[in-house]
Amino acid sequence: MIYPLPSICERAILEQFLKAEAMALWAVRSAQVQDVPPVMLQFLRRHEEEEAQHLKQFELLLGTSSHGKTALPRMPSQWRILAVHLYGFETLGLEFARLLVGLRPGLASILEDEEVHVGFFEQEVRNNLTQGGAAARDTRQAAKAWRRRLPRTVDRYLRDETLAPFREGLRQHILSVIDERFLAVGLLTGEAA
Ligand SMILES: [Fe+2]
Repeated sequence: MIYPLPSICERAILEQFLKAEAMALWAVRSAQVQDVPPVMLQFLRRHEEEEAQHLKQFELLLGTSSHGKTALPRMPSQWRILAVHLYGFETLGLEFARLLVGLRPGLASILEDEEVHVGFFEQEVRNNLTQGGAAARDTRQAAKAWRRRLPRTVDRYLRDETLAPFREGLRQHILSVIDERFLAVGLLTGEAA
């Protein structure tokens, strides 16, 4: 059983949440220079503000900054594909937020923010699937590609030594939660993994 994690894991979980947030923030910034439908821009700006606030809060907690960035992957230029990536990062961030709140119940408001972010992109993904045709096909293909890279991403996020005893359990848990969510939304079909 992986919950609750012991407090020795707190720093690693905080750092990885910070990384997921930095990734989402960067992706959102990137999104704003892409071909984003006007109705999305307002949400994306608010989202960016919230992510920036989370970052500041964590940087204070950790006494560190998130600038040790590794090379960031290219973001897709098509909005409906980018929306899948943002949805994916947010679902990943949400799982780390859950672990974090398990360790620090005082951070519950962050979990609420993340649930809103995930819900927003989930709706956008659903809309694109409902359109059918090329929109649905591109959306599902993007999800498959993102999901294929997910195990390596999760391994990187769980690399810290303090997480070693929980690594396999956490890995399985995170992957299955995300799969369930993608399946429920209609992004993945049964044979996708
Ligand atoms: Fe977020």
